[in-house]
Amino acid sequence: MNVPKQATPDHPIHELVAKRWSPYAFEDRPVSDSDLRSIFEAARWAASSYNEQPWAYIVATKAQPQEFELLLSCLVEGNQGWAKAAPVLAIGCTNLRFSRNGKPNSAALHDLGLASATLTVEASSRGIFVHQMIGILPEKAREIYHIPEGVQPLTGLAFGYAADPKALPDAFRDRDLAPRTRKSLTEFVFSGEFGATSNIVK
Ligand SMILES: Cc1cc2nc3c(=O)[nH]c(=O)nc-3n(C[C@H](O)[C@H](O)[C@H](O)COP(=O)(O)O)c2cc1C
Repeated sequence: MNVPKQATPDHPIHELVAKRWSPYAFEDRPVSDSDLRSIFEAARWAASSYNEQPWAYIVATKAQPQEFELLLSCLVEGNQGWAKAAPVLAIGCTNLRFSRNGKPNSAALHDLGLASATLTVEASSRGIFVHQMIGILPEKAREIYHIPEGVQPLTGLAFGYAADPKALPDAFRDRDLAPRTRKSLTEFVFSGEFGATSNIVK
């Protein structure tokens, strides 16, 4: 796969961070269960508020085609169009309340994001890419998987090996071929006052 999607950082960053990106084209190649165990093990060791670990992942691989189709059906149509090529799909869920006292956990969404970020780094270290999706059908997922009230199905995740995008429909191919763009540090690192660029990054 020779799409140049590596980050072009203004300051040095770790190779694992630089080489992560979210592909639309996936190779027709399975991800091993052993790699998947390590990927979810990485999520397990993510930091979380009060060590609550509010996240849960529902996973389906193409080794179980019916399960895979069910999980695929929980994505919005636009995401199904490309995610069906990935060998592994998951739904990321998070418990909105603390298990110990039932009070609202205001870090629940954050902590699912952090767990997913952590598993993505582990996946990158294995040459596996993760493309996350907010475009899911949460109520459909809730019904199919009996997700309890208070647990929010929030994101979809597609896992696999990035492929040459040439076989993709135009819209997705253009996204895979587009250069990656980012705000500059001056736009989000502040000191003294919100909006005031920190001297550290000037
Ligand atoms: C929480 C989250 C939700 C996302 N939702 C979608 C989505 O529904 N569909 C999609 O095609 N990409 C989705 N993306 C991928 C982003 O568009 C992508 O991460 C962003 O454009 C930056 O590109 P990069 O990941 O290649 O650096 C999502 C990413 C995250 C982290």
